[in-house]
Amino acid sequence: SEEIEWWEYDDAAEMAAAVAGDVAFIIESAIEARGAAVIALAGGNTPIPIYEKLASAKLNWKRVTIIPTDERIVALGDPLSNVTAVAKFFLPKGARVIPIVPNALADYKAAGRSADALMQDLHWPLDLCLLGVGNDGHTASIFPGPDLEEALTSPNGRRALGVMPEPMPTDAPVPRVTLSLAAITTARALMIAATGKEKRSVIELAIKQGNASAYPIGRALAGTELPVDIHWAPA
Ligand code: 6PG
Repeated sequence: SEEIEWWEYDDAAEMAAAVAGDVAFIIESAIEARGAAVIALAGGNTPIPIYEKLASAKLNWKRVTIIPTDERIVALGDPLSNVTAVAKFFLPKGARVIPIVPNALADYKAAGRSADALMQDLHWPLDLCLLGVGNDGHTASIFPGPDLEEALTSPNGRRALGVMPEPMPTDAPVPRVTLSLAAITTARALMIAATGKEKRSVIELAIKQGNASAYPIGRALAGTELPVDIHWAPA
């Protein structure tokens, strides 16, 4: 993207209110334009207050399909399950929340194939992809290293990838499935929400000229032609 705009907030609650407002507007516009909205939402802890706020928005939730941007291969209901975290907020609203990994498929390659097949049924491109970022510059479950190359050379832009993070991050010692970079960068809107100094530094590093290729978040930002909003709060 040639246009990256930073939005800074005093704290996570203020950020949550603003981002939830933007997401609600995107959903509303998509429903108005195309009769439905299909959005991908980041896992992890940072966006939870955003989802809480968003769930209180008055929207035609029955027209909304939500998938996680990536998934840890654990049983539904597991505290590490991204779709479980999202479903808690949006299923009661009537949204369609789709687990991209059926239920704890043990073999991560098989889980990747299954997620891929499932995603062919969705509307494309996505109306929104809300991304988080890790301190190492990973986004969704695309990590710096060999996975990044796989994500880049994905033959089908819509496909999900079975990804075994290498090296395995200590905070997430489970195999993952993720949207490919192509699926992320073709979304009609791309947004990032992050907190803390370390994440700010890694995003700044990743968007410096010539640096993007080493950082998945840099690739995602470089890969879209749309303006991107980065929402950030110190904590
Ligand atoms: C996941 C994510 C991942 C996340 C970052 C940040 O499933 O873990 O989608 O990309 O956004 O790791 O996570 P936190 O918000 O918990 O720091």
